[in-house]
Amino acid sequence: MFFILYFNFFYFFGIIKGSWGDIMLKTKDILDEKDKRLRNISKEVVFPLTKEDKKIIKDMTEYLVNSQIDELAEKYDLRPGMGMSAIQLGISKRYFVIVYEVDPEATDNSKRFETYIVINPKIISNSTEKIYVDMGEGCLSVNREVDGIVPRYARITVEYFDELGNKKTTRAREELAIAFQHEIDHLNGILFIDHIDKNNPFKGQNEYRAI
Ligand code: NI
Repeated sequence: MFFILYFNFFYFFGIIKGSWGDIMLKTKDILDEKDKRLRNISKEVVFPLTKEDKKIIKDMTEYLVNSQIDELAEKYDLRPGMGMSAIQLGISKRYFVIVYEVDPEATDNSKRFETYIVINPKIISNSTEKIYVDMGEGCLSVNREVDGIVPRYARITVEYFDELGNKKTTRAREELAIAFQHEIDHLNGILFIDHIDKNNPFKGQNEYRAI
């Protein structure tokens, strides 16, 4: 048992030092769709969070904010994203961060973000109505354009814990609801491309609402 913990500690340390150093998270640190670890079913988080998990949450949040500020995204070569799950950094634990830009029309200086730190989430209710992203869904682990319809609930209620272990309930709709469903999929080893019908990528186009 001691051996296993010891090993994990240094394995983890290796990741931090190896690919990140003490500097910020970069796009290259995010696992690519071909990496089998993305297919893991992530494990429930036990509270209190470890120092490492707190650091990862901080780094993910920083990445997501910076990646949505054009000037910083360009400066640090960050692919824009609004959500990231721990498994995308190879950490098989049930948590993710969503940084939601409230006003998509805002310029860099006036952008406002809502940050959701989501641990051990459960969808407790959903609308019957389904929607999809008209432009196609995207993922920081899928570095290519993928056409096709990914049906998602238009509205969901999610229960989860924040980083201090407080229970939270969020009602999400539209784009934010899609982000939650996309990230919860990651915790179950599912990528958005799995939802697209291979023979008929635009199946459901008339059945669901485009956003
Ligand atoms: Ni993703």
